[in-house]
Amino acid sequence: MKNNISSRRIFGIISHPDAGKTTLTEKLLLHGGAIREAGTVKARRNSKFATSDWMEIEKQRGISVTSSVMQFTYNDKVISIMDTPGHNDFGEDTYRILTSVDSAVMVIDGAKGIETQTRKLFRVCSMRGIPVFTFMNKFDRESRDPLDLMQELEDVLGLPSAAVTWPIGSGINFEGIYDIIENTVYLYKQKKEIRLGEDGVFGHELEEYIPSYTLSNLRDEMELVLGAGNELDRKLVSEGKLTPVFFGSALADFGTTPFLHHFLDMSPSPGPRKTADGGYVSPDDDFFSGFIFKIQANMNPAHRDRLAFLRICSGTFERGMTVRLSRTGKEMKLSQSTQLFANERETVDRAYAGDIIGIYDTGNYQVGDSISTTKEPIFFEPLPTFPPELFMMVTPKDSMKAKHFAKGVEQLAQEGAVQVYRTEYNEVVLGAVGQLQFEVFEYRLKNEYNSDIIKYPLDFSIARWVVDSNIDTVTSTLQSNHKLVFDSKNRPLILFSNQFNLDYYMQRNPDIRLVEALDVTD
Ligand code: G4P
Repeated sequence: MKNNISSRRIFGIISHPDAGKTTLTEKLLLHGGAIREAGTVKARRNSKFATSDWMEIEKQRGISVTSSVMQFTYNDKVISIMDTPGHNDFGEDTYRILTSVDSAVMVIDGAKGIETQTRKLFRVCSMRGIPVFTFMNKFDRESRDPLDLMQELEDVLGLPSAAVTWPIGSGINFEGIYDIIENTVYLYKQKKEIRLGEDGVFGHELEEYIPSYTLSNLRDEMELVLGAGNELDRKLVSEGKLTPVFFGSALADFGTTPFLHHFLDMSPSPGPRKTADGGYVSPDDDFFSGFIFKIQANMNPAHRDRLAFLRICSGTFERGMTVRLSRTGKEMKLSQSTQLFANERETVDRAYAGDIIGIYDTGNYQVGDSISTTKEPIFFEPLPTFPPELFMMVTPKDSMKAKHFAKGVEQLAQEGAVQVYRTEYNEVVLGAVGQLQFEVFEYRLKNEYNSDIIKYPLDFSIARWVVDSNIDTVTSTLQSNHKLVFDSKNRPLILFSNQFNLDYYMQRNPDIRLVEALDVTD
C-alpha cells in the first residue's frame, strides 16, 4: 500500500482561459498513453455535448460545467489531473477542487503574464499551502522577457520562484529550452538534445546551433539566474512558498517532457491530512477515511441521483464497505462507487488513499462531510467558503409554488451550487463567483423542482462577513449602497458595490471587523 501511495500524484491545473490548460492536459495524457491523438480531450468534450443532455446548459454553451478526474500512468507514477471548468464562467467548484489536490500546475501565457483568473485560483492554493509549479506557455510565439515573467510572480502573487528550465528566445527566434538541473539543451528547430559540459551554456557546444545574439542573451540571463536567482529549495516548494518555473510550448509539445519529469520528481504524493482538532490522518493509517469536496447532481436526467466526489485520505476503499458519516453518526454502505475519467464512468471496487472516487448519494452527504471506518468520528479541516462576487435576488414566479422554490433553494445550497443568503425580510439573495452558477441554478430549479424564478441582479461585487459585532450597531452603520444579508447559519454579511465602497466603509467604521472567508463549519 505504501508503494501505491508514494506513486500517486494528484494535481489541478490553474490558469486563465486560453492560456493553454486543455492543450497541456492533452499533451500530458499523450505522454502517459491515456489518449492516442491530440485533440481527444477537446473532442471528448464536444462529443459529450452531443450525446449527454444531463445539462442543457453545457450543450448550449459548449463548456464543461462539471469536472472530473483524468488518470494516467507515466513511468511508475499514477497521475490524476483534476479537471476544472476552463471557461471564464468558472464557479465555486473550481475553487473547491483545489482543496482536494496535492499540488497545482499554474499555466501562464508567456505573452500575457498573470491574468485575473490565475490570480484568484492561486490565492486558494496559497491559502492552503499547496505547492505550485509554473509552466510559462506559448514560447513558440513572441513572449515576454522570462526574467520579467518571474519577477511578476513575486510582485503580483507574492510568490518567489526558481527556474528549472529556461527558454532560449521566443517566437521566430525560439531555439529551445535549457534544462538547468540536467544541464541539457533541447533544440526546438533541430529537434536535438545536447548534454552540456561543466561550463553549461558558457561552453562551446551550443555555438554551432544557436545564433550568436540569442546565445549571448541566454548567457547573460543564465548569469543572472544562476548568480542572483532563488535556489530551488525543495522544502519551500513543498510548502507552497517557492514555485519551480518551466518554460515551453504545450501546442508544440516542447518543454513538456522535462516539465513532467521534474514535476513528478518534486511534487508531493498524498500526505497527511489535517483534522479539525489539529491532528492529522496519515495516508497509511490502516482505517479508511475521506472527505467530500463536491456534489454533483443529476448527471443522468433519468435518475435523480447525486454523485459525491470523495477524496480518500487514509486506508483502502472496498466496494460494499460500511462507513460512518461523521456529521450525523449514520452508518452508510458504499455499494455504488465509480471512478471518473472525463465523463465516462467505471465502477471501482478498490481504491487507495489519494484516490478520488464518486459515490452515489441519495441526499445524505454535504460538501465538506467526512466519512470513516473509525469508531470515533473524524472531522477533516473544514473547506473554506469562498467570497462570491456576483449577487442576485430571486423570487418564485408563481407564488403557489413557493414550497418547491424553497426546497430547491435549500438543496442546491446544500450541494454548494450557489451561496444562498436571506435579507432581514427573508428575501433570497444568491451569491456566486461565476455567472454560470446562476444559470445552472435557474435551470435546475426549473427542471428538478418545477419552479420558475424571477431574477433581480444586484449591483454588488464584494461580500464580507461581520464578526464579533452587535447586529444593531452594524445596522446603524449601513447606508443605501450597502446591503445586509445572512448566510445559511445566520451569520451576517455586508454586500458592497466595489472595493472603493468597502475601503470607505472600513475607514469610517474601524471597529467593525470584516472578514473575507469563513470556514464552512465556523
Ligand atoms: P485553455 O484550456 O487554457 O482555455 O486553453 P487551450 O488549451 O484551449 O488553448 C487556447 C488556445 O491557445 C488554443 O488555440 C491553443 O491551440 C492555443 N495554444 C495552447 N498552447 C499553445 C502554445 O504553446 N503555443 C501556441 N502558439 N498556441 C497555444 P485556439 O486557436 O483558440 O484553439 P484551437 O483551434 O487551436 O483548438
